[in-house]
Amino acid sequence: MTVKERIDELRTELNKHNHAYYVNNAPTISDYDYDMMMKELEKLESEHPEFDDDLSPSHRVGSDITKGFTQVAHIHPMLSLGNTYSVEEVDEWVKKCNDMLENTDGMKSIPIVGEMKFDGTSISLIYENGRLVRAVTRGDGEKGDDVTENIKTIRSIPLTLHGDNYPKSFEIRGEIVLPWKAFDKLNEERAFNEEPLFANPRNAAAGTLKLQNSAEVSRRGLDAYFYYLISDNLPCDNHYDNMLKAKEWGFKVSDAMKLLHSIKEVDEFINYWDEQRKHLPVATDGLVFKVNNLRQQLNLGYTSKSPRWAIAYKFAAERALTKLNFVSFEVGRMGIITPVANLEPVLLSGTIVKRASLYNEDTVKTLGIHEHDMLYVEKGGEIIPKITGVDESAREKDAKAIKFVTHCPDCNTPLIRIPGEASWQCPNKYGCRPQILGRIEHFVSRHMMDIEGVGEENSALLYDAGLIKNTADLYDLKESDLMPLERVGPRTAQRIVEGVEASKSVPFERVIYALSIPFVGETVARKLARAVRDIDTLMNMGRDELVAIEDIGPRIADAIIEYFAYPANRELVERLRAAGVQMSMPEQDTNDHTDILAGKTIVISGVFSKHSREEYKALIDKNGGKNSGSISKKTSLILAGENMGPSKLEKAKSLGVPIINEDEFLQMIGL
Ligand code: IVH
Repeated sequence: MTVKERIDELRTELNKHNHAYYVNNAPTISDYDYDMMMKELEKLESEHPEFDDDLSPSHRVGSDITKGFTQVAHIHPMLSLGNTYSVEEVDEWVKKCNDMLENTDGMKSIPIVGEMKFDGTSISLIYENGRLVRAVTRGDGEKGDDVTENIKTIRSIPLTLHGDNYPKSFEIRGEIVLPWKAFDKLNEERAFNEEPLFANPRNAAAGTLKLQNSAEVSRRGLDAYFYYLISDNLPCDNHYDNMLKAKEWGFKVSDAMKLLHSIKEVDEFINYWDEQRKHLPVATDGLVFKVNNLRQQLNLGYTSKSPRWAIAYKFAAERALTKLNFVSFEVGRMGIITPVANLEPVLLSGTIVKRASLYNEDTVKTLGIHEHDMLYVEKGGEIIPKITGVDESAREKDAKAIKFVTHCPDCNTPLIRIPGEASWQCPNKYGCRPQILGRIEHFVSRHMMDIEGVGEENSALLYDAGLIKNTADLYDLKESDLMPLERVGPRTAQRIVEGVEASKSVPFERVIYALSIPFVGETVARKLARAVRDIDTLMNMGRDELVAIEDIGPRIADAIIEYFAYPANRELVERLRAAGVQMSMPEQDTNDHTDILAGKTIVISGVFSKHSREEYKALIDKNGGKNSGSISKKTSLILAGENMGPSKLEKAKSLGVPIINEDEFLQMIGL
């Protein structure tokens, strides 16, 4: 292959991976392999300037710009950082900085700050007179999306600053992250709703920040860490002290930030965090080292892409090589077929990995997996193990490429490809065991009808014994039907029947969720229930009426129409209704209860224009929050109208309690 051909190949590959990463939020390659390809391209391009091309992927930082947001130019471009996976290269960078700045003390380095490299999505915040005025994503580095409304829902970001010694106007940059706990919860919900999972917290944070619904953003639990302050009037002449000031003003600055005075201290910092980062509540993909002194930073300056005064050290993801035993094809509740790699068990980051999802046919094809291949399994920022590559040199002679199944592995029905998506589906909705069972398990689960005693195992038992063929059959069960079953004693039988009875009082919005209408998850179900008020209205709505409801797009509308076009589904609804299941919203209760504000103590202050104070109190209550009269450390939020008292304002600022206006509050609770 000629150099030119290799350059073209790398450009094509990198463009493909950029698209998967920035547009689909679903990377198809590990960060390490991506960085290595980019480094190879950069090296070849610098050695062969005759092949330079303005449109080469090496010339851009990538873009996260999304339609639907207003674009704003950055005052200072948002550059990326030079990176390395090698401790030696970090040491060389420290030496080079010292040389360029003519530091002659051989033992001591110029002061370097070591920091975590948070693995999220970068943000630039502008503050004027102590108030947040704008939040912009990195975008293409020159301009980004204005996501101020979404940023305001992140409780660790101060909307007004503490104290009074901050510059009148400044920019602060940081990383929006989704902590591991929130990430797990979000993916659990998505798995439950058979929505595609986020590959890592970084994609989840980026995806969440770009939602058009700030109440949903608020619910997902984003957080933010800050690491760079820009202003004409910075309080100190060095980065470290400026960050400590930012902390005093109310920003979250990582406690891991440390001043380092020698290469030895830099290396110790790397060794320490290589291990300890596993215990942090948020994902990190490396460390960042920065020259501390701002004058020295200025002297070192920038290359066209990144500052010379900083470098990122990236942690290598833990990776193992193991044999593919076979690929199984699993059928989900919505009939979607997921290929799963069943592996020779291998130890990776402290857990034994036996299976890894291959997501869909495209992933299998992109990876080019053959029977019994040796596969690379990785767990970097991800908890879910991921297949990132194949060791082709270890492939058995005559091994065949893995073929995607053409028929349902359970009921043998020919599969259909969902238009516009990478998934294959079994269309035999009402005759395919895993789909029927999946719907029953979904229906009885804790988030839906919460029927005690009928879990995954018992659903299968009841189904296989011919006692239930669908969810409505649950309401006909008698203890005497259950008793003859193996593993069902009198207590379990009683619990099941009582659980079914109790489910008749589950609110209408959860009943809609429990029906397993494609794309109708918890939030959509709640929106639908509030808008339609009863099932008859929903069953008879046309596409135009459905899309007129907030957050209901054509895809969801079509899924609802298709669902109710099946006579079997209408019959199911009628049987559930006859059994006493809630099929409408209660008469007087025009604002149904939610748990959007669960765990939050909210203080109301000032005069409002859209609702009275009493109405706001009732709204807090209905959405699961607690109203309190005085501001304390326990206060989560202040709902402020006009003329909020100055002493309250001062107290809120000093405690760092976020203050929101009535529009923001109403948006938060989805009104
Ligand atoms: S400093 C001009 N510090 O990493 C330098 N960046 O690969 C500004 N990041 O775009 C960046 N943690 O999104 C800096 N402690 C940290 C960081 C950090 C994460 C991200 C940031 C940046 C990317 C560069």
